[in-house]
Amino acid sequence: MAAESHPYSESTQSESASARPAPDRAPDVVVIGAGVCGLGIAWRLRQRGLAVTMLDKGAVGAAASWVAGGMLAACAEAEPGEEELVRLGRHAQAMWPAFAAELEAATGVAVGLRSEGTLVVAPTADERARLLHHHAFQKSLGLTLDWLPPSEVRRREPHLAASLAGAMFSPEDHQVETRSLVTALARVAAAVGVDLRPHTAVARIVVDNGRATGVELADGSRIAAGTVVLAAGAWSRGIEGLPPAARPPVRPIKGQVIALTMDPAAPLLRHVLWAPGCYLVPRNDGQLILGATVEEKGFDTAITAGGIFSLLEAAWRVLPAIEELPIVDTVVGHRPGSRDDAPILGVSEVPGLVYATGHHRNGILLAPVTADAIARLVAGEGTDPAIAAFGMERFAAKAAA
Ligand code: GLY
Repeated sequence: MAAESHPYSESTQSESASARPAPDRAPDVVVIGAGVCGLGIAWRLRQRGLAVTMLDKGAVGAAASWVAGGMLAACAEAEPGEEELVRLGRHAQAMWPAFAAELEAATGVAVGLRSEGTLVVAPTADERARLLHHHAFQKSLGLTLDWLPPSEVRRREPHLAASLAGAMFSPEDHQVETRSLVTALARVAAAVGVDLRPHTAVARIVVDNGRATGVELADGSRIAAGTVVLAAGAWSRGIEGLPPAARPPVRPIKGQVIALTMDPAAPLLRHVLWAPGCYLVPRNDGQLILGATVEEKGFDTAITAGGIFSLLEAAWRVLPAIEELPIVDTVVGHRPGSRDDAPILGVSEVPGLVYATGHHRNGILLAPVTADAIARLVAGEGTDPAIAAFGMERFAAKAAA
């Protein structure tokens, strides 16, 4: 959001520059994309002693990571047909406390991991029936969600509309403050010697004799590397150089988000809240994040009256007092949506290329498991069973079936 600057807009001045690849030495790994997943991977790779160069066409963490709500919602968002994704999300949820603690200890930056849980509210009896039906599926996966009657919902959140028909409470779906997370990851990556190069667009991945051997930048210069990690979010498919079958099926899914401000001493809301047509995320500093539209409009960046109206109307139905709050910003992001809405994690048919993309709505939630599993894979420690179901080969298998 405009009021906040990105943590790194120039090449970083790392205090441990000696750990970077020397100018005449190729890095072991080039990571394309400095979002939270790419940064996490680079950090974990440096911990394994690999030299890493990280390239991003914009500022560090300035794309979807900067706009994300930061909901760690493996349970509330569980959908039929996404059982493997729920398992991955639950695994990531379990990793979050240690990931946040390690990051905070390494950087001194608090990442705002909160633990009030999430309320999914039903404004009407129809919506209550839908939530209760969905609850049976969630319970079949062993997820903990509890139905709360209206009186209990209002006891927990007194500013919610008196007419609500109840809510599902998800006690294990929490939130993290995404901009602090970006700041912390950028700081730790620089501190451990990642060669961070923002505003450095990759024109293409260089493939020699069927193997990825590095990247070519927009200015024509090349960086050779043993492994290229493609973590460019919604832009991952657009990078040239790969054979068509190796280009990940990822497209941008536009989301408009509004930031309002509450009195931090008397916030209107404490839980993350889902309602039909919107979600609300209360931050420690008093900001109330209201998101998000889901639009198939390519890389369109317009803030539209319709988008803002639909979010405010949906939020006002459940939290009428929102009408008093100042709007401090509006912002647009592009989720990297894959063909089945699940991430693409793992090796490619092009040796030397590794995918870490397609995280769709779950990039923040899945950042810790993505970082660990991809770093393990690149370092030759094998495929983490947690990501085994999320390889690129699943799309070829479906096409052949
Ligand atoms: N994860 C929230 C969103 O995609 O809008």
